Amino acid sequence: MPLMTTKPMFDLAYDGGFAIGAFNVNNMEITQGIVEACAAEKAPLILQISKGAREYANMRYLKHIIDAAVEEHPEMPIVIHLDHGDTTDLIGTCLKDGFTSVMIDGSHSTFEENIALTKKCSDMAHAGGVPVEAELGQLGGIEEHVVGLSAEEYAKNLDKFLTDPKQAADFWKRTGCDSLAVAIGTSHGAFKFKTEAKLAFDRVEQIMKTCPGLPLVMHGSSSVPKEFLDLINKYGGAMPNAMGVPEDQIHMAVTKYGVCKVNIDTDLRMALTAKIREVFATKPGEFDPRKYLGPARQAIVGMVKRKLHMLNCAGKSEAIIKNWEKMGSPVPAFYKKGCCCGA
Ligand code: G3H
Ligand code: 13P
Ligand code: ZN
Repeated sequence: MPLMTTKPMFDLAYDGGFAIGAFNVNNMEITQGIVEACAAEKAPLILQISKGAREYANMRYLKHIIDAAVEEHPEMPIVIHLDHGDTTDLIGTCLKDGFTSVMIDGSHSTFEENIALTKKCSDMAHAGGVPVEAELGQLGGIEEHVVGLSAEEYAKNLDKFLTDPKQAADFWKRTGCDSLAVAIGTSHGAFKFKTEAKLAFDRVEQIMKTCPGLPLVMHGSSSVPKEFLDLINKYGGAMPNAMGVPEDQIHMAVTKYGVCKVNIDTDLRMALTAKIREVFATKPGEFDPRKYLGPARQAIVGMVKRKLHMLNCAGKSEAIIKNWEKMGSPVPAFYKKGCCCGA
């Protein structure tokens, strides 16, 4: 089975009480850990790649790693998605590279500029049958390539930054985007909140009403698991006051309020870092990368398996494949089996 688009997934997730986990990949071990967990749990998967990941790993390597995952697991429904695309050029490149879903993030521009950029990217992507995720409203947190707001600024002005439900309807109509990343109180990175997180579920409800049928996406959904935070801090790391979105709130956003896609990157970074730190601290003579990257990869497997249950998407692969087949097994026109280098 080739990589598929998000459509057969979101069709079922929309009112199926589950969401698809969208996990960021930057190298082989991270990808293998995620894929192994999803294969074991029979869960659909969105592998997402940021501009920073493309620059770090080189897209050819990432594409081949993902193609290897598809070959290893022909039974798995997998999407390859651009995370936080910021220009039409990058969208065009990703379409040529065979991405089966792209995000254009114009959320830091004005409303009208965001609409113009998103519309242009939707037209480009739709020409090849590729769906587009857009973003409206502003999340907190600061990530490379994602200029956000400080936690303090964000918390003080929360209402102003959350997605406006009426604007969302107008935005959807005028851009033709296929899914929408909404600001509902989540935040990127490991330092999301000063006090306990509370997601704005009322906003989700309102947006679902003003935009019926539009799949909603929750970025900044890492939970900063205590077990990894403790290991990092115990073994020489310094991440005081790191705090994420409690898993029960994400579960509620998905099962009760209908969020369809949940983005997770920070927790992968934390699992990897925690295990590497542990090996370095407890076995200072160890210098074989397989001896620390191996346990790090296993930590990702365990963590992702847990997330799949939180998202209620374990066991949903088969239904999604059936839905994809019912749709005529569509493959985006830009998808090229094998290689983004033309070979
Ligand atoms: O939301 C952003 C993702 O965590 C990607 O981060 O741009 O550092 O790869 P990155
Ligand atoms: P986290 O930083 O919470 O993992 O969010 C990742 C994300 O939103 C990627 O787009
Ligand atoms: Zn994000």
